[in-house]
Amino acid sequence: MPYEVQGVVARGKGEAVTLETVVVPDPGPGEAVVNVQACGVCHTDLHYREGGINDDFPFLLGHEAAGVVEAVGEGVTEVEPGDYVILNWRAVCGQCRACLRGRPWYCFSTHNAAQKMTLADGTALSPALGIGAFLEKTLVAAGQCTKVNPAAKPAVAGLLGCGVMAGLGAAINTGGVTRGDTVAVIGCGGVGNAAIAGARLAGARTIVAVDVDDRKLDWARGFGATHTVNSRDTDAVEAIRDLTGGFGADVVIEAVGRPETYKQAFYARDLAGTVVLVGVPTPEMQLELPLLDVFGRGGALKSSWYGDCLPSRDFPMLIDLYLQGRLDLDGFVTETIGLDQVEEAFGKMHRGEVLRSVVVL
Ligand SMILES: NC(=O)c1ccc[n+]([C@@H]2O[C@H](COP(=O)([O-])OP(=O)(O)OC[C@H]3O[C@@H](n4cnc5c(N)ncnc54)[C@H](O)[C@@H]3O)[C@@H](O)[C@H]2O)c1
Ligand SMILES: [Zn+2]
Ligand SMILES: [Zn+2]
Repeated sequence: MPYEVQGVVARGKGEAVTLETVVVPDPGPGEAVVNVQACGVCHTDLHYREGGINDDFPFLLGHEAAGVVEAVGEGVTEVEPGDYVILNWRAVCGQCRACLRGRPWYCFSTHNAAQKMTLADGTALSPALGIGAFLEKTLVAAGQCTKVNPAAKPAVAGLLGCGVMAGLGAAINTGGVTRGDTVAVIGCGGVGNAAIAGARLAGARTIVAVDVDDRKLDWARGFGATHTVNSRDTDAVEAIRDLTGGFGADVVIEAVGRPETYKQAFYARDLAGTVVLVGVPTPEMQLELPLLDVFGRGGALKSSWYGDCLPSRDFPMLIDLYLQGRLDLDGFVTETIGLDQVEEAFGKMHRGEVLRSVVVL
């Protein structure tokens, strides 16, 4: 029997999201239905609503979630009903050219549920990042469920499902931050602050946080920033150079997703340094840089999708570090809200009042 549950849907570009009845099919082969217990509001949900990702409306939003497996379909062996899981958007295929080369965190053919969730009238929904978890129960590919220690409560664990993992991984996996490095992070929302936490965990000696909002910079200090720069009234590039012996940082992480902040990241890194773009740009954005500077400054310009994480490797490990008190995940949860408050949460995110609003079910 399909389930009928309440979920948050974006029906059209820029339109306020609405709470709708969603029909969730029983899990088919390779699929699982999960009772969602918590789901964070990520900037990417807002990008979907604004039409910044694609035009496949209506979207079923929410993708940063934890919950308990309710039912599994035929042939599913990796999880069973009752398992406590974080949902991931990188269920690796094991067969694409990235997986076969031993680099499954780049998997080019990740799994999602084969069946569609629909509105009551049968209209197929496009689940955000192949998840759709502002929803009491959601349908995913079984590989999208990663088991973790249930001692970590859902509002916190779910954050690893997207933004916090993206930030931590941008520093640790993509940027390769290691003991003694100097790091700068531009944009200190949930993703940027997670990059700061990741840089601290990896042993960076200087961590410069840059944002245009002092509230974000206060949070950044709590996550491990050694210096903060409000780039509304200070030149970010000069400030980062000043704080790193005049040279620039070894690794600069861009967590805004705009050409002007990317340029700051590009020029605020030391020679042979690394830039990591984890912020997501929109289709009309263009970047212009002197090619000679790209060549002459050397180093690496990288993008980080999902922090180059491998959920099966990274989620249980990060939850263990959290439970040992070595990684502050609670600090990201600014407020917990109901399913009917997602639109309000977008407003708070836009005004910079929260790191994460987390829907708790
Ligand atoms: N690559 C990935 O896998 C991945 C995953 C999740 C989110 N993201 C993206 O990361 C970005 C950040 O997400 P978030 O949830 O932290 O969003 P957020 O809105 O909470 O944070 C953005 C931050 O950037 C700051 N900012 C805006 N303009 C700035 C400027 N000119 N200079 C400095 N700071 C500026 C804001 O004040 C805010 O603190 C988004 O683009 C989001 O889509 C990427
Ligand atoms: Zn693959
Ligand atoms: Zn996200």
